[in-house]
Amino acid sequence: MGIKLTEKGRQAGGEPATRLQKKKNISKKFLSSSLMILHDKEFEPFINHDELQEKIRMVAAEINLDYADKEIHFISILNGAFIFSSDLFKNITAPCYMHFLKVRSYEGTQSTGAVSNIIGLTEPLNHKHIIILEDIVDTGATMQHVYKEVSKMNPASIKVASLLLKPDAYQGNIKIDYLCFSIPNKFVVGYGLDYDGLGRNLKDVYQLKS
Ligand code: IMP
Ligand code: MG
Repeated sequence: MGIKLTEKGRQAGGEPATRLQKKKNISKKFLSSSLMILHDKEFEPFINHDELQEKIRMVAAEINLDYADKEIHFISILNGAFIFSSDLFKNITAPCYMHFLKVRSYEGTQSTGAVSNIIGLTEPLNHKHIIILEDIVDTGATMQHVYKEVSKMNPASIKVASLLLKPDAYQGNIKIDYLCFSIPNKFVVGYGLDYDGLGRNLKDVYQLKS
């Protein structure tokens, strides 16, 4: 019989847990608990996959009602929003397109406040109905930047959908039209969100352990 690939083993890079444990000297306690270690930090379960899917289906249903007679152009903000965008997109019944914009504002567990485009929008979006898709709105600097970029393209309308919002950190004035979860001002990973590149593949959302 082959070595069983546990969830913990998978998250840490797709290696069987026992081999990984030996290689990185990870304690048995970690492997049998529900804590997740990414780089130097510990994360604990926060929102599970089923709860995420249920809320995403509800938000998609709202969008389907609001855009029943319109074509939607989604703009997914990379990297973090790619999993949320994909699951939401699969639940949309209106004719819809997906575009991607890659920006960067975070380093480690802190927003730098300075947002830069890494891959910009290439197609004309004038007179189109846009919904910007974000994994998490924290200070709001990223959304402010993207909203401004999209506005320049003279679209018919712009709305915003986000998986998560940290209301206590938010300093922006853009309305989040479609929101799955408001969360406390704590760093989270999983379901597309990362800590220095790791954790995006987690099926659930985890919170930094205090
Ligand atoms: P903002 O510009 O401060 O609103 O930060 C937004 C971006 O920073 C998001 O698109 C995420 O990529 C990243 N971010 C913000 N908070 C977190 C978090 O708790 N975990 C992981 N990434 C985050
Ligand atoms: Mg993001």
